Amino acid sequence: MLLAVLAAGCMRSAEDAEQLTGGNVQAGKRLIKEYGCGGCHVIPGIISAVGNVGPSLTSVGGRVYIGGVLTNTPENMVRWLINPPAVDDKTAMPNVGLSEGQARNVAAYLYTLK
Ligand code: HEC
Repeated sequence: MLLAVLAAGCMRSAEDAEQLTGGNVQAGKRLIKEYGCGGCHVIPGIISAVGNVGPSLTSVGGRVYIGGVLTNTPENMVRWLINPPAVDDKTAMPNVGLSEGQARNVAAYLYTLK
């Protein structure tokens, strides 16, 4: 399945994404399904992730800002995923309860989307 995603083009390799974030891409993909991120976001490669509450995460790995407030670096992505309201108290994205390790895995998956 990963190969099919990579074949779609405009992707960062899983190896590169894992090196950047210290997370695991496949574990991140599972967490994204478990935590229902797709109820609020369109996320390539995640079936039924068609939510329109938040922005589409298509090419989020190449975006300049996270939530419009943090520069998009791997550490900032992890920080955002752990607790968005702690970064921006007006954000509509809730704290979904990811641990740091889980956030690294999720960030790894998101960074394949470039
Ligand atoms: C209840 C809806 C909701 C859920 C659930 C949710 N998000 Fe969000 N998310 C949002 C909203 C709304 C924003 C826009 C926040 C802002 O700009 O302040 C956002 C922003 C983001 C961003 C920053 C995108 C950008 O371009 O700025 C990322 C990355 C993200 N979400 C990932 C996730 C992941 C991964 C999950 C699951 C662990 C998740 N979200 C769960 C609503 C949600």
